Amino acid sequence: MTIVYDASINERTKRKAATAPAAKKAPAAKKTPAPKVEVPEYTPGLAKEMAPLYARVAKVIPSVEWPFFAPYIYEINRLKKQKNAVILAHNYMTPEIFHGVADIAGDSLQLAIEATKVEEQVIVQCGVHFMAETSKLLNPHKTVIIPDALAGCSLASSITGADVRAMRAAYPGVPVVTYVNTTAEVKAETDICCTSSNALKVIESLNAPRVMCIPDEYLARNVQAQTEVEIIAYKGACEVHERFTPQELRNYRETDPGISIIAHPECPPDVVAEADFSGSTSAMINWVKDTQPAKVMMVTECSMSDNVAVENPNVEFIRPCNLCPHMKRITLPKILASLHTMQDEVTIDPAIAARARLPIERMIALNT
Ligand code: 13P
Ligand code: SF4
Repeated sequence: MTIVYDASINERTKRKAATAPAAKKAPAAKKTPAPKVEVPEYTPGLAKEMAPLYARVAKVIPSVEWPFFAPYIYEINRLKKQKNAVILAHNYMTPEIFHGVADIAGDSLQLAIEATKVEEQVIVQCGVHFMAETSKLLNPHKTVIIPDALAGCSLASSITGADVRAMRAAYPGVPVVTYVNTTAEVKAETDICCTSSNALKVIESLNAPRVMCIPDEYLARNVQAQTEVEIIAYKGACEVHERFTPQELRNYRETDPGISIIAHPECPPDVVAEADFSGSTSAMINWVKDTQPAKVMMVTECSMSDNVAVENPNVEFIRPCNLCPHMKRITLPKILASLHTMQDEVTIDPAIAARARLPIERMIALNT
């Protein structure tokens, strides 16, 4: 049975810990207005050059939108070469980013692993802030930029380093596995990180009877269903995935008995129980590629279905649309502006970075 950490203990310890220097919350990101950046005109020549790409994505990008996107895609791809930059994009990016400008796309684990291999001096992280922080932790001497530093995550903002210290005090000696969807300050208090694709493997690798798996309560509960290890969870949740309900999934099945339903493990366990498969964003993509269902519903963020639909023309996608407002902060105009200005650059206090790097490296060592 999963134990969910009592937040009232947490609050008491938080008050005590509030005087410790590391208990301070990360400073709020400063936002400067995006500069006006020149983009080429959508001329017949540019339209012709971009036509092969449009042919690939026409199914998911309306033709009225393409004349707006195409010049940005053209210019970003030109400028990233000039600036020796690589674009890492999460699977939730919109199709014009995912198919148009990303050099490497993937789930959180793949992006973390790929970040250790890039040769370019500049990494543009098209995803949310914790992903850019992970890239920076793994590439301290590179410039890591995020097109909008306010792209946060409800899981990352649900917990602080002081909360982790309070949990350690409540459960002495119990190892702490932290989801990568957390700030560097939280990772610094952690034994090892995990992602949705390796949480079970990471927890079992510790050979401990009890493990804390924080901060996503639903991920912890979903892993608990697969292991004998006793899991202590924290009350954090993804604001996108917690909104799905098992009744919603049952309604889709009733209307359409032949439908395949696959769900991300950040969904509540009763939602995952209704699904035919559950896995990380990339595991879900691979499931569709390998299984080729006639009709599938991906119970996760909206843009994923669009991105996968491009590569699976014979699969019909039913889209129960829940958008991640943080991922959607990343747009082509902001990516272009960030390449021009090299902003917002991700920086991490070196003392925190030195400690936060270790649990990510331990996780990667287990997966490579
Ligand atoms: P993945 O690691 O499965 O890509 O998940 C990241 C995420 O933020 C899902 O909401
Ligand atoms: Fe965070 Fe959920 Fe958005 Fe993923 S989908 S970045 S977990 S808020």
